[in-house]
Amino acid sequence: MSKNISGFSKKSKEEKIEWLIATYFEGNLQAKETLTSYWNTDQKLQQLHDEFIENTVSNFYLPLGVAPNFIINNKNYTLPMVIEESSVVAAAAKAAKYWSTRGGFKTTILGQEKIGQVHFIFKGETKKLNSFIDEIKPMFFEDTKGITKNMSARGGGITSISLVDKTSEIKGYYQLHACFNTIDSMGANFINSCLEQFSKTLVREAGLNEDLKKEEPIEIIMSILSNYVPNCLVKAEVRCPIEALESEDGLTKSQFAEKFVRAVEIARIEPHRAVTHNKGIMNGIDAVVLATGNDFRAVEAGIHAYACKSGQYRSLSQASIKGEELCFSLEIPLAIGTVGGLTNLHPLVKWSMQLLGSPNAMQLMEIIAVAGLAQNFGALRSLVTSGIQKGHMKMHLLNILNQLNASSLEKEAALNYFKTTAVSYSAVNDFLKNKNA
Ligand code: MEV
Repeated sequence: MSKNISGFSKKSKEEKIEWLIATYFEGNLQAKETLTSYWNTDQKLQQLHDEFIENTVSNFYLPLGVAPNFIINNKNYTLPMVIEESSVVAAAAKAAKYWSTRGGFKTTILGQEKIGQVHFIFKGETKKLNSFIDEIKPMFFEDTKGITKNMSARGGGITSISLVDKTSEIKGYYQLHACFNTIDSMGANFINSCLEQFSKTLVREAGLNEDLKKEEPIEIIMSILSNYVPNCLVKAEVRCPIEALESEDGLTKSQFAEKFVRAVEIARIEPHRAVTHNKGIMNGIDAVVLATGNDFRAVEAGIHAYACKSGQYRSLSQASIKGEELCFSLEIPLAIGTVGGLTNLHPLVKWSMQLLGSPNAMQLMEIIAVAGLAQNFGALRSLVTSGIQKGHMKMHLLNILNQLNASSLEKEAALNYFKTTAVSYSAVNDFLKNKNA
């Protein structure tokens, strides 16, 4: 049977599923049942989910967990986290509790600037282009007034537009580099709409300009926001006297602090370690970004680019011992929103926002950065003491038991038994076999 199909998106959901089952599952009705069993019985809610994207055939569940006891700038939060990795929420909750009795997390917003660019080719003299852009700059603002009206009323809008000469890298290549403040929205649609208007204004005005008319016409290559936002920045930190730390797994308090700082230094200079170190940070960040309906791909791309800002991929967090104190901090760019997008649509996103006390975008940036720092602390604390597997495998135990179809009684017995025994797939398998022998 051919696997090519035209007009797929025009088919009804049922027709799409029929085609998938016939083409890829040999007509197996169990495969259809798997999809339909995840449909929501509330038709309106299901329709909402169907319409988020094209060709929806079912819903893909991820757990929504919560991590309580976060003290952020002296305020108590319970963080919503959407993630499939078994140990992440537990680690966040443990780190939150740890720091809740040591002064909590402190945060600072270092900037809120978003960026967009019109990329274009101009073959004439740079000098002429420079004075032309200076001359027409007010028109970029004027022509986008319809788009920026509401944003301006909220205190945001276009904050600057400049011409960037990139001709030394690509012949004739220039950018209109624009900066924006999008207040509480992520602002992707707002920025892209402004940029597309800038490109129209640019071409129109170039056609009317006496100097530029004589040149080859400007060619717009593309107009798009940038997910690299190094000036939309938040810092989260914790600090406490070494004396207030816990002695861990055979390490004294100061041995622990020194080993902890050394681990962060390694991630600063060693890219292989830095990537894994930052992956652990992203465990916390992505989980809250997802729960609050934000674009985790944009956040990921921007943060990893920031980790490379020195020319080498490095740790996003920093640790040091200053006097008698352990200081640990994280600085990341975060372009997120608390209005628009999924935030007004997805019932669980609305719920998560309410759980967080309906934060504005700056407050959510702070909360997300804290989630990253807490996760990093949890991972490093395990890595430099007992090792990561102890906690990981404990949390993974339920997944293994589910894979082996263990009953509730078997699970209870296994959870008890593996409190003092190392968890592995084969150890759990043997335990169940022996139990039933
Ligand atoms: C696992 O998801 C994350 C860690 O590997 C992070 C780290 O190594 O720092 C534990």
